[in-house]
Amino acid sequence: MDFGDSKLEENLETVIGDVPAISFHVDQNDILTNKLSVENILKKGEVLFLASFNTLDGAGRPEMNGDFDLRERRELPQNFNRISGPDANACSGCHNLPRTGGGGDNVANVFVLSHELSFVEGMSLSEVGNERNTLGMFGSGYVELLAREITSDLEQIRHDAFWESRISKEILRVKLTSKGIDFGFISVHPNGVVDTSEIEGLDEDLIIKPFGQKGSTISLRQFTISALNLHHGIQAAETYGIGKDPDNDGVSDELSIGDITALTLFQATLPAPQRVYPEAKEANKAAVIGENLFGSIGCVACHIPQLPLESSVFIEPNPYNPPRIYRQENGALPFSIDLAKVDAESNFETDSEGRMMVPIFTDFKRHDMGDDLDNEKVGQCERSNSGKCFDIPSSHWITKKLWGFASEPPFLHHGRATLISEAIQAHGGEAEKSRSKFLELDPDDKKAVVEFLKSLKIS
Ligand code: HEC
Ligand code: HEC
Repeated sequence: MDFGDSKLEENLETVIGDVPAISFHVDQNDILTNKLSVENILKKGEVLFLASFNTLDGAGRPEMNGDFDLRERRELPQNFNRISGPDANACSGCHNLPRTGGGGDNVANVFVLSHELSFVEGMSLSEVGNERNTLGMFGSGYVELLAREITSDLEQIRHDAFWESRISKEILRVKLTSKGIDFGFISVHPNGVVDTSEIEGLDEDLIIKPFGQKGSTISLRQFTISALNLHHGIQAAETYGIGKDPDNDGVSDELSIGDITALTLFQATLPAPQRVYPEAKEANKAAVIGENLFGSIGCVACHIPQLPLESSVFIEPNPYNPPRIYRQENGALPFSIDLAKVDAESNFETDSEGRMMVPIFTDFKRHDMGDDLDNEKVGQCERSNSGKCFDIPSSHWITKKLWGFASEPPFLHHGRATLISEAIQAHGGEAEKSRSKFLELDPDDKKAVVEFLKSLKIS
């Protein structure tokens, strides 16, 4: 592969014997000073995403769990554990449907949260982790941008209410709304106390966390750093300490700040999923009927077909990043990429104000999805930037972004639905009404809804 870096290729040719999978580290300064072209940064990000990390890269975490805690030393063959991790060798080992960067087969499922244990052995599977199917990252730069814009709107509403209440000396109950999505209410008291009991589908810190099926992670960078340690035992220097070797595997600075930026930007610029309409006339007709039914039976209440985006400029790092990650508070300087320029093929519609309409099919809210989707036993608690822990009930899930989903079977958080109609039938709780309406449709109309959903592909 041509990195435009001849020194690197020379190295690759002359080293004899075992070599690390990664023969370079990206310097963040080279990114910030434009020494590396955007094309080069993205290529390096792709190489990192495809790399099968090995011992020489620092893969494995002999003395650490998949979080931050120390554990009794584990060496080969206990350097790998399919449940509590390290459980895989490359990001692309799981994220490969329909191609690199996408979702994954059930064989790639992750036993989420079991990485917090030191080593899973002889324990009941459902008690140690929650089995989840792999999500895809096509269009994820737009996902993160939409989430940032919504968070910013909600923070502005809270900020304005805070001052108004202080001046009027009255309790102010204000509606939290952004891009036409309602997140309930907050009540602001003149002394600054905020009553958050009426917030809907979102944590009380008002930060949209668009990644992960629980809606628990703020940015691609945050997810990437955690995935690297959890799945591969690779510690990002920005989080685990520059020059430090917390897992005691003899390798420090396993990935640099620049490496993480490249890996993040590679994912952020993966092209947005495009609609693929069926060629056969009958099928096309059915898809159009199905799309209308998807609206009339209420699926669009959660799977909002399009959301307006003010700006397609992706600034890395995310201003809402939690602590222990490269962020402005720690002196990070921003690097910008215009997604619309990199991904020129995604010609989204624009609204009357010229904003891009992103065909994402979500509302970024968590919903109670009822009994059939309430199978997990290990509670997921999300830490806010202040360190506070938000418990997410086991039946609550962030509305699945449906763009591209048909190219990433199987379906639902655990991958147990192999048919689109099975996924719809498993809806309950807040989606019970629209599920019932779907079930009441005559057989041809049901097929039409599925035919429409089949068009939500990655082309
Ligand atoms: C063993 C399989 C596996 C490996 C390896 C893996 N992932 Fe994942 N990935 C998953 C699963 C499963 C989820 C969904 C997790 C959840 O919601 O709880 C996921 C979710 C994600 C998401 C969130 C996507 C979204 O839209 O919500 C990102 C980003 C991500 N992974 C990045 C990575 C990166 C980067 C790597 C490599 C460092 C990686 N993953 C390695 C299985 C894997
Ligand atoms: C109350 C909000 C809500 C409504 C209404 C709703 N959904 Fe969903 N939908 C979700 C959530 C949340 C998930 C993820 C559930 C999970 O993985 O456990 C989901 C998942 C899906 C999936 C699976 C996608 C995948 O990749 O796994 C499909 C297909 C789907 N919905 C279609 C529909 C259809 C069709 C309707 C209307 C009949 C509908 N949804 C109504 C919230 C909703």
